[in-house]
Amino acid sequence: MRDSVDDFPDDDIDLLSSPVTLPNGVTIPNRLAKAAMEEGIPGGLPGRRHRKLYSRWGKGGWGVILTGNVQVDASQSGTPFDLRFNDDPHTVPRFHELHESIIPPHYAGPDAPLTLVQLNHAGMQSSPTFSMCRAPWIPSVAPVSARPDLGSGPVAWAMARTLWPVPSRAVTDLAEWLDIAGRFVDAAACMEEAGWGGVQLHSAHGYLLAQYLSPLALKINCSDFIAGGLDENTSAEIIREIVSWRLVDLLEISGGTYTNPMFTASSMSPQNPSPRQSLFAHFTAALLPTLPAPPYGPAIMLTGGLHDRALIASSLRNKACHLAGIGRPAAVVPDLPRRVLLNRELDGSKARIAYDIPHAEAARRLLNAQIFAPRTPRPSKPSTRPRRWASHTSSCPSNPSSPSTASFISLDDPECTCAENEAIERASNGSGVKLVGAGIGTTWHEWQMARMGRGEEPDLELDWFRGLATETLWQTICAGGPVNWLKRWWGKDW
Ligand SMILES: Cc1cc2nc3c(=O)[nH]c(=O)nc-3n(C[C@H](O)[C@H](O)[C@H](O)COP(=O)(O)O)c2cc1C
Repeated sequence: MRDSVDDFPDDDIDLLSSPVTLPNGVTIPNRLAKAAMEEGIPGGLPGRRHRKLYSRWGKGGWGVILTGNVQVDASQSGTPFDLRFNDDPHTVPRFHELHESIIPPHYAGPDAPLTLVQLNHAGMQSSPTFSMCRAPWIPSVAPVSARPDLGSGPVAWAMARTLWPVPSRAVTDLAEWLDIAGRFVDAAACMEEAGWGGVQLHSAHGYLLAQYLSPLALKINCSDFIAGGLDENTSAEIIREIVSWRLVDLLEISGGTYTNPMFTASSMSPQNPSPRQSLFAHFTAALLPTLPAPPYGPAIMLTGGLHDRALIASSLRNKACHLAGIGRPAAVVPDLPRRVLLNRELDGSKARIAYDIPHAEAARRLLNAQIFAPRTPRPSKPSTRPRRWASHTSSCPSNPSSPSTASFISLDDPECTCAENEAIERASNGSGVKLVGAGIGTTWHEWQMARMGRGEEPDLELDWFRGLATETLWQTICAGGPVNWLKRWWGKDW
């Protein structure tokens, strides 16, 4: 087993193409995982558009393909686009067809990806008015009674009360927790029957998780980046405890919540290159040596900002992860492994993906009611602000190098990059309504997935305001959405 004996290939493509075997004996054909992304297609059970979209990923050369989150309680969904598990008799057949859109029937080639369904319960973040999954006066369920913190100011106050007219209801009754646990178990059994390789429990990004199932995979935050939330020390302790149970085969590390979206904090822009390491790599690099390597322990999947062949290779070599989770780029280049990361015709400097979302910054300022506020100046020289989340404090000595000449920084290395700090600043400190920061980029990528669901190509030129008009107002609200929802309702859109 390569990871156990430090025998990594010198060539980056060979390294990214190398298989990894999980404790349950399943071998993943390569190190590239399409991370979970809610598809931006009207939710419920998977339909024709989901199959079109997933067939694009199926042909993309991924080692693992995760679905977007599938809600185990349809009345506690996160968005109107979430796939939902329920006891409808169509559930198993629809998820089976979705699986066949990734791996055609009877295909058992060694390069077939591991397919995982991400199961989720949105907990406190389930908004009745946005997700339209229950009456506005019915609260979400959570460990405490509260509303998600959208930031300060009158806009944030009004938005929080529009999205959550009533605060969440604290679940204190054991029977109710067991009922929630039962939904995860039922959903997992359904996905097994439908042919999926396993399930991932979504225990990151501020959602609810009940830890009672023996999952194949788990997604967990290294830190919630909010006061009173999970911090890195607690997260490391929890992870070590979970690993000691020997029940989890794949563990994905992320960070932040939808009110402080650290998980999408790394820049996609060619003008503002990603840091020299994934935002959470300092955490996994410290954690990995303390855990048994696969196949004796779970494969650690690191997600967030790994959009560059050299960066992924250095993260693998430096033992920050065993698998690289890739989210946003998979929504615009569904065959990213085949076309870019594993493509020998592209040399290292070109084997990366970076793009700007046209007018995203204007949208953010407009939606945050900051149109008249002065623009935040780009720092002309390196910031000297200390890292907030690392266990050591240090200043940025130099500008970050280009990601194409990726180098790796471990926890012991006192160096940090300005880009890392900027990313954290953007995600955690932005004034206005915090949710808006996550929403701008997320919706644009959802529009791209919705385009693929309709059989169209992703459109990197899609201006954010044009997307709002064509995708959200026209396709989702005025024309496409209601028609699709009605077709679904009548069972005509399968
Ligand atoms: C459009 C969109 C939808 C997402 N939906 C989910 C989801 O359903 N479940 C989840 O765990 N993470 C979700 N994420 C987060 C991604 O899995 C990933 O952690 C994040 O995009 C950072 O990775 P990246 O830098 O490669 O994009 C979503 C992200 C985006 C952009």
